This record gives sequence, C-alpha cells and structure tokens, in this order.
Amino acid sequence: MITSELSPLSLIAGDVLEGLSRTPKMLPPKLLYDAQGSALFEQITCLPEYYPTRTEAAILMTHADEICSRLGQNVSVGELGAGTATKTRILLRSLLRRQPSVNYFPLDVSDAALQLAKDEVEKELESVNVHPHVGDFEDLTFLGRQAPPRLVLYIGSSIGNLEQEDAISLLQSIARHLSSGDQLLLGVDLVKNSNVMHAAYNDSAGITASFNKNLLVRINRELGGHFEPDAFRHVSFWNEAASRIELHLESTCPQSVRVDALDKTLRFYQGERIHTENSYKYTVECLEGLLHHGGFEVAHIWTDPDCWFAVSLGVIA
Ligand code: SAH
Ligand code: AVI
Repeated sequence: MITSELSPLSLIAGDVLEGLSRTPKMLPPKLLYDAQGSALFEQITCLPEYYPTRTEAAILMTHADEICSRLGQNVSVGELGAGTATKTRILLRSLLRRQPSVNYFPLDVSDAALQLAKDEVEKELESVNVHPHVGDFEDLTFLGRQAPPRLVLYIGSSIGNLEQEDAISLLQSIARHLSSGDQLLLGVDLVKNSNVMHAAYNDSAGITASFNKNLLVRINRELGGHFEPDAFRHVSFWNEAASRIELHLESTCPQSVRVDALDKTLRFYQGERIHTENSYKYTVECLEGLLHHGGFEVAHIWTDPDCWFAVSLGVIA
C-alpha cells in the first residue's frame, strides 16, 4: 500500500487560488502531475525532440557499475520525484550485482506514477523491496525510514524546476536527513544550443502542449473550473538571461473563467499568460556550486559525449 499524508483537494485549491491571484498569474509545476499529466510526461520522455531522458539513461547505462562501486556496502535507495522509476531500474539492476537485496523508498506527488513504479520494479526485480510514499519535497521525513548507508536519487533534471535558492534549500534539507558517507545522485540538464532546447519543449506532435493544458483540465475536474483549454495556447521559449526554458499558457481572447470550488471568477486579457513551469539549464561549474552550497562534496560528474546532460554524485563529508 502507498502511504500518503496529502489531502490533494485542499492543496490544489490553495495553490491554484494563490497562483492565479498573482500578477503575473502562475501555477506551481507539481500540479502538472495528476494521473493524466504523469501519463503525458511518460509520452514526452519518448519524443524524438525530448533529449533529456534518453541522454541521462545513456549516461546511467554506461556508468551504473562505476557509480555503484563508489557507494557503501548494502545501500538503501531513496528517490525524490521518482515518477515511474524507469531509469532508476538501471541503477537498481547494477546494485543487485553487488548486494543481495535493496530497500527502495520512492517519493512523488503523483500516486498514479508511484503505483506504476512499484508494479514495474517488483515485476522486474524481485529482490527490491519498494516502500513508496505519496508526498511533497517539503516533507522529507520519509528519508528517515532509510537505513544507512544511503543513496538519494534526484534525477531527471527535476531540480531544474526550482529557483536556484529553492534548489539549494532543498539540497540542504536532503543533507540534514543524511549522515557522513551518504550520497546524492543528482541529474541536471546542461545549457546547449537553444534550438535543441526549444524543440524539446515545442514538439511537433503537440504532446508538451497537451501536458501543459492538462493543468486546466485538472482544475476543471478537481475544482469545478470552467476553463476552455483550447482558448489557451501553449507557449514555451528559452530565456537566455535566466538560463531557463519557460512554459506558459496564453489566453487567445479576453475571457472570464469561473472556478466553483474557489467561488471565484478569473479574468484574462487577450495574450495574458499563466506561467506554469521553469526548467533551468546548468553549466558544470554551476552544478558544482549547487552541490557545494547544498552541503555536498562533489565526488564525480559524468556527462554524455555532447555534454548535454550531467549526472553528479555528491557525498556528505
Ligand atoms: N524522475 C523521473 C520523473 C521526472 S518528472 C524521471 O527522471 O523521468 C518529475 C517528477 O517529480 C514527477 O513524477 C512529479 O510528479 C514529481 N514532482 C514534481 N514536483 C514535486 C514535488 N513538489 N514533490 C514531490 N514530487 C514532485
Ligand atoms: C520533470 N522536468 C524536469 C521536465 C523538464 O524537462 O523540465 C518536465 C517537462 N516539462 C515539459 N516537458 C518536460
């Protein structure tokens, strides 16, 4: 059974009310991941334009044994934002060549994704005991259930959704739950040719647009919203000065939208945007600084031949 301390309706209501009352309007990216959003994200990971997943998977496949050889004996594995844990299985397979069993503690806000993670890991890897937890990064007490020595995974470039100061705070919070010798495997997307990054978030099949607009579908379903998703346009671009890809939903006309559960009518002018996601891209130097400020010593950084993605191992001194 998946443990959860979330009460999704009230959490979504508070975040939606707060975000859509701001100027400019915004919604936190974690709201993208209801069951449908997680399924759309899985489709994104297979798109020809979306390079991060296959590039990180290739790094993990090439270096999994070396990564695992740097860990202690009989490590337990925790994971932030595990999703369906597809890439995690590369590491778990390698770990099982070094130890008889693994206790694996994935955390995610998406219970649908976590259920799939549990089913798929248990189906393929009998000696992995999966202890899933539905929850937010704000509460990392699930890491306390892990026995040392610990490996914590935060892969998939998910840290890129956070502002730099929030990213550092999150790493510091992870570090507070760990002891000397415990390690963090952090995957980040690297700055590259802007056409490559732009295409990854503006795919020709329109799956990223559906993923973005699904936020409005979710508000309609869970909060009695009356959004017309086709009255909004998916907008995504590279913001060079901030070193990030931005995702927005842009109103194609002047409109008023009622959200029953919030007892609120929202007004949009033509061209007004809801900022739904940032995806920060790092340099290797910034990644080193991030780990350092987060409380980790850099043990090693692996990249692909094009230097498009980096997988780093940080250790608690
Ligand atoms: N690690 C996987 C999934 C990445 S997608 C991979 O590399 O492919 C990001 C995942 O983080 C989603 O499954 C999403 O539900 C989860 N997530 C996003 N914000 C979160 C938050 N604040 N707390 C917990 N999980 C979060
Ligand atoms: C989860 N996260 C790192 C993805 C990214 O690339 O920023 C989410 C995503 N958004 C649009 N496409 C993929």
